[in-house]
Amino acid sequence: MSETIRIIRPDDWHLHLRDGPMLKAVLPETTQHFARALIMPNLEPPVISSQDAQSYRDEILRAIPEGSDFEPRMTLYLTEETDPDDLAKAYNSGLIIAAKLYPVGATTNSFSGVRDFDKVRAVLDRMAKIGCPLCVHGEVTDPNVDIFDRESVFIDKILTPIITQTPGLRVVVEHITTKDAVDFVLAHDKDLAATITTHHLFINRNHILVGGIRPHYYCLPVAKREEHRLALCAASTSEDHRFFLGTDSAPHLDHLKEAACGCAGCFTATNTMPLLAHIFEQANALLNLEGFSSRHGADFYGVPFNTGQLTLEKTDAPVRFPKSLTTPQGDVTVFDPGVEIYWQVAKE
Ligand code: NCD
Ligand code: ZN
Repeated sequence: MSETIRIIRPDDWHLHLRDGPMLKAVLPETTQHFARALIMPNLEPPVISSQDAQSYRDEILRAIPEGSDFEPRMTLYLTEETDPDDLAKAYNSGLIIAAKLYPVGATTNSFSGVRDFDKVRAVLDRMAKIGCPLCVHGEVTDPNVDIFDRESVFIDKILTPIITQTPGLRVVVEHITTKDAVDFVLAHDKDLAATITTHHLFINRNHILVGGIRPHYYCLPVAKREEHRLALCAASTSEDHRFFLGTDSAPHLDHLKEAACGCAGCFTATNTMPLLAHIFEQANALLNLEGFSSRHGADFYGVPFNTGQLTLEKTDAPVRFPKSLTTPQGDVTVFDPGVEIYWQVAKE
C-alpha cells in the first residue's frame, strides 16, 4: 500500500484571486483543496472601503464552483486615507478579518499604498484596540536599498517602530523570505506571526538567475540566498504556531511575465499541497504539515479548524502537474518546483 497522509482540510492565508474572468479561471484551483483563503485586496482599483470588500466578496461567492463550501475571508487595503470607523465597522461585522499594508510601490498594484507610516497611526491604534490583525508586505521601497535587503530593512526601520508604538497590534509578516524575518518572529510573542509561501520553500535566487532569467520564478519579495530558503523550511516544518501557509499564489498572464519588464508573482494554487508534502517529507516532518497548512493560521485568526479532510498520497512515478492554466485572456504558468514530486492529492 502506498504511503498516505490525512490532514484537516487546509487554509491559504494569503491568496490573490483577481476579479472578472481571471477570478473565474483561478478560483477552482484553490477551492479543490482549500476550505478557506484570505483574499488579498490589491485589485485595480484596490479594495479600500467596506463597500468595496462587500462587492468583491459577492463577486467571489458568485464564482465559487457548484458544490464547493469554500469561504473567502476578506481584507481591506490600507491607504493614508483609510477611515478607522469604516475599517472597524467592516471588522466588527465579520466582513473582513484583517487589513493589508502595502508600502507604496512595493509590489503589484500597490500604488495606493502607504508612503508616510505616520498617516496610518490612528488606524493602526484602532486595529490594536479592536483586535484586527495587520498583514504587512514587509519591504521598503527606497530606491537606495538593494532589493535583496528590502525585507530586513523593513523589519528594522518600519516594522519594529510600528510594533513598539502600537501595543496590542497583532501582525502577520506576509510571505517572509529571510532568516532575519524568521528570527524576528521567533523573538516576539504570539501576536506576531508570519506566512510562508510554497515557492519560497523551493527556490533561492540562483533558480531565478543562473543559466538565464526565469520569469516564472520572479515574485516579490524576491527569493534570497539558499541559507534563507533553509531557514524558511526549518520554520515551516518546525510545528511553531507562529508560522503558517499563505501561498501568495498570484496569477499573471504569461505574456506579462515573459516580457522585457515582467511582473512579479508565482501561481501555485494548483499544486501547493503536493509540493508542501514533498518539503515536509524531506524535512522528516510530514506530521507537522497539518499544523502549518490547517491549524496554525486558524488559531491566529481565531477561527475553528475546518471539518473536512484532505488526503495526500505518495506515488510511484513523478507526478506531472499541468504546465499552465487556460484563461479566457491567455495562459497562466503553474509554478514548476524544478524537482520531481512524488505526492498527489487523493481523490475522495
Ligand atoms: C503579488 C501579486 O501579483 O499580486 N505578487 C507577488 O510577487 N507576490 C503581490 C504581492 O503579494 O506582493
Ligand atoms: Zn501577495
